[in-house]
Amino acid sequence: MTNKQMSTPLRFLTGITTSGTPHLGNYVGSIRPSVRASLKAEVESFYFLADYHALIKIDEPSRIQRSTLEIAASWLAAGLDPERVIFYRQSDIPEIPELTWLLTCVTGKGTLNRAHAYKASVDKNTSAGVDPDADVSAGLFMYPVLMGADILMFNAHKVPVGRDQIQHIEMARDMAHSFNHRYGEHFVPPEAEIEENVATLPGLDGRKMSKSYDNTIPLFAPREQLKKLIAAIVTDSAAPGEAKTVEGSALFQIYQAFATPIETAALRQAYADGIAWSDAKQRVFERIDFEIAPLREAYLALLNDPGKIEAILLAGAARARQIATPFMGRLRNAVGLRDLRTQASSKAAKSTKVAKPVFKQYREHDGKFYFKLLDAQSRLLLQSLGFDSPQQAAQAIGLLQTQGASALPALADKLQTGTDLDATNLRAALQLMTAAECG
Ligand code: TRP
Repeated sequence: MTNKQMSTPLRFLTGITTSGTPHLGNYVGSIRPSVRASLKAEVESFYFLADYHALIKIDEPSRIQRSTLEIAASWLAAGLDPERVIFYRQSDIPEIPELTWLLTCVTGKGTLNRAHAYKASVDKNTSAGVDPDADVSAGLFMYPVLMGADILMFNAHKVPVGRDQIQHIEMARDMAHSFNHRYGEHFVPPEAEIEENVATLPGLDGRKMSKSYDNTIPLFAPREQLKKLIAAIVTDSAAPGEAKTVEGSALFQIYQAFATPIETAALRQAYADGIAWSDAKQRVFERIDFEIAPLREAYLALLNDPGKIEAILLAGAARARQIATPFMGRLRNAVGLRDLRTQASSKAAKSTKVAKPVFKQYREHDGKFYFKLLDAQSRLLLQSLGFDSPQQAAQAIGLLQTQGASALPALADKLQTGTDLDATNLRAALQLMTAAECG
């Protein structure tokens, strides 16, 4: 078996703050590439609605709720498959705020002072001559720690984000290192994943499409409104018949984000040939609507069935907690939040750190998903048979992590038997794992 096969699938995780209605820029820059990436067989994706983060910006309860509904419906309508992706709402995972506190205690206050968003507020206040922290909530200050908890809770390897979020991922890495340094190797330091080929879409006025510029085109605007908004995109004053330049043309850039290279080349030619702006706009509108119309229909159906979305999110949260709950148990134990009846001397606790057995998940040539349990010396303790999905394998691991050896009978037909695997060591390892859960 090669190293590659033994390693766990690459875990991607990203959060979407529930503070608005998705626009075309969100679709092109985040929703569409993320949904596509999640369809690759070799990755495991965690996408979630960051509603705790939204509370930092918004204090209107109905807007939080509405945005959560709209964003969930948008991602689902855009093809997110909740069977493949662990799709959940942050506030359904109580382990996340719990982990936030543990990370708060290993994060320097000075580090948070340097976070861009907080610093921008302070700089603004300072130049306005008011108290540096005027109108700055502690929530804004703590934003990076909550985000660190989102990521580290699931030990994500890659975090697809925009450039403005790179600093936050670096902070999450620092939190992982600080915690690991104090308490043993619990966290994988995550990396930001910046999609280079994804366009930043210009908005109606030609600046980056962004809610803060009020220049957006809502992703699921009705057809007529979409047409009107596209007609409102700024152009220069070149008359029909006059050649137009594609450089700096917001309309052209928006088209390009939807069209095939051949279609794009054709519009480029039409620009050179002097297409009238109104005709160009009609072409752009038709092309975008061609892609969006079926999604819009799915979106509207979902908005009319909030119970369905709620059920999908709750099912996603249950899957996420299969990982988060036992992991949080180990973290609580690691920091010393323990059942008083367990008599772990500090010496025993130290040796627990180094002797920790690990589960490895991987995929085989037969397309099935496997896991194995290795002890600290990389000796094989347990070998699974093939599962149809990584989630099923993860569920079995979750069971072993929470219930230890008592989960073995239930999993009997999913585990390899009759080999020279060492049953005594296996039980000891599982014991160690569940003892670490007590908390
Ligand atoms: N801060 C991110 C944004 O504004 C949203 C977010 C919250 C996030 N938690 C996350 C992104 C965890 C990636 C991972 O875009």
